[in-house]
Amino acid sequence: MSLEITTTPSASPRSDEDVARVLEDPGFGTTFTDHMLQVTWTPDDGWHDARITAYGPLSLDPATAVLHYAQETFEGMKAYRHADGSVWTFRPEENAARMVRSSHRLALPVLEPDDFVRCVDALVEVDQRWVPDAAGEKSLYLRPFMFASEAFLGVRPSQHVTFMVIASPAGSYFKGGLTPLRLWLTEDYTRAGRGGMGAAKTGGNYASSLVAQQEAMAHGCDQVVFLDVAEGRYVEELGGMNMYFVYADGSIVTPETGTILEGITRSAIIDLAHKKGHKVEERRFGVDEWREGVASGEITEVFACGTAAVVTPVGTLQWDGGEVSGAATEEAGPLTKEIRQDLVDIQYGRADDGFGWMHRVL
Ligand code: PLP
Ligand code: COI
Repeated sequence: MSLEITTTPSASPRSDEDVARVLEDPGFGTTFTDHMLQVTWTPDDGWHDARITAYGPLSLDPATAVLHYAQETFEGMKAYRHADGSVWTFRPEENAARMVRSSHRLALPVLEPDDFVRCVDALVEVDQRWVPDAAGEKSLYLRPFMFASEAFLGVRPSQHVTFMVIASPAGSYFKGGLTPLRLWLTEDYTRAGRGGMGAAKTGGNYASSLVAQQEAMAHGCDQVVFLDVAEGRYVEELGGMNMYFVYADGSIVTPETGTILEGITRSAIIDLAHKKGHKVEERRFGVDEWREGVASGEITEVFACGTAAVVTPVGTLQWDGGEVSGAATEEAGPLTKEIRQDLVDIQYGRADDGFGWMHRVL
């Protein structure tokens, strides 16, 4: 049975002028819309009491399990306004399916994909005036998340779980926009090993990445690159993005899945690159291959991708004792630009969505 969602409108929504001012330059993840969606799960009643209410602080018991054992999962997706005013999301059923996989890994209950999509759509509908217009590639970033909300200090799966969706207007994730990134290769910290949580979108992975990200910033870099746990040789992903390497012969390599997040942008890029006639390999990719390939000119472009980052060029890889910069240190390389354009043209409704990726909300 699908969820009934009730809506109690905010008594003090932001004025239209305020919203317009935020949408002019939304930044990333700092301003939230007027409402939030919340659903409760208990073993006896399953998912119930789905409600949209005014956005505001939660009241949590200090013993709430997520605060201690980080039993939580989340998603990141965006709503895009097309030129005709309609509002769409990109492959929301993939986010829903990934949350199911993450939930299994974190011993959280399954929220049915149809209910996930309906919850997201319902919040977007209520807060539709917060979806920016298409100019400048702005969007409404959507953050569905699920957490252990039982107040209990024993270590076992929570018997009270909360699912929420919040929304935040977004511009570019990186202040430099499309300026190529400088990446820091961490050789001290890893992100996920075999049997770990690397493929799950859960806060613990991000908590564990922060000290490495701090190290990256201390070295003047934008993001950190993680290598595999077992050998410390193979590129996994960045703190919040997947990676792509373009060879001079037009072939493309992306690290295989297993211990990395199965990015929805990553998988879309595989389809877009195939459609353009490029060979795409998903395989283990050694950091030495990166260093040597870029230095010899065999690798011509490197880029990162994700919902927040879209497609962002990579200029330099830096490590303790050296660095290597590719051809595209000043601006994105030609294929990076093309793939980015193909993707955003579909997301903003400027190109035909031959893949069935777009989901109309309004
Ligand atoms: N890898 C990590 C660690 C991420 O946080 C993200 C962002 O969600 C991605 C990859 C890219 O995934 P997606 O394209 O689904 O946003
Ligand atoms: C996203 O791209 O949606 C993420 O969750 C990653 C984070 C860097 C914001």
